[in-house]
Amino acid sequence: MKLVLLGAPGAGKGTQAKRIAENYNIPHISTGDIFRENIKNNTELGQKAKAYMDQGLLVPDELVLELIMERFKAPDCKNGYVLDGFPRTIPQAKALDEALEKNNDRIEYAINVDVDDDVIINRMSGRRACLNCGRTYHVKTLRPKVEDTCDYCNSKLVLRDDDKPETVKKRLDVYHKQTQPLLDYYNEKGILHNVDGTGEIDRIYNDIINILKA
Ligand code: AP5
Ligand code: MG
Repeated sequence: MKLVLLGAPGAGKGTQAKRIAENYNIPHISTGDIFRENIKNNTELGQKAKAYMDQGLLVPDELVLELIMERFKAPDCKNGYVLDGFPRTIPQAKALDEALEKNNDRIEYAINVDVDDDVIINRMSGRRACLNCGRTYHVKTLRPKVEDTCDYCNSKLVLRDDDKPETVKKRLDVYHKQTQPLLDYYNEKGILHNVDGTGEIDRIYNDIINILKA
């Protein structure tokens, strides 16, 4: 199964992608997580990406495409994947479709996790992230068992550098201008599904699973 999760920053893409990936035994591929991993390891790619990410801007398409095409070569992608945070621009979506078409393949589902901007701004200030395994928590709605510690890998949880309120506003702006047009792109292909991304995390997950089972 190959699916794309769409949605604004903080819509819950990562939260849902982890669960879908575990349920279907396919990898969760988050370009944001890959960039953060590179920043942590101070790679050349990480240094380039950080300059954009800290300002709430998108990393240039060439850098993203180079990275993702390499990731698709890994053996764990043979049965599909959940894409989270990619594609994020029309050129990225077209490049993905072209790469898949070469192998007579395609994206089967584009799922939009729909959340209003005001809810997002509230969520982001409470988010805590594990930079080791990519899981996210929330100080009010999704607390770890031990304070500031990841339930799965015991790493310390942090507030992401780009979760400052002024950067979140910029990211939302960039989302509406550069990423939202993907909703029409996938709608025209007949594979777009909208899910209400507010309310219980389990309910949202069930809505997604029902789409994938239908
Ligand atoms: P990326 O890491 O992809 O960030 P994002 O899209 O801004 O999304 P987030 O990870 O912030 O949110 P999410 O939707 O995963 O929400 P989460 O599940 O954590 O990208 C970061 C940066 O990298 C970009 O700004 C860009 O610079 C660069 N980049 C990455 N990919 C790129 C690309 N393809 N092209 C160019 N540049 C790229 O949930 C958020 C919070 O809400 C958590 O605390 C969670 O616990 C909580 N929560 C989740 N669901 C609920 C719920 N139902 N109710 C209450 N709280 C909830
Ligand atoms: Mg995420």
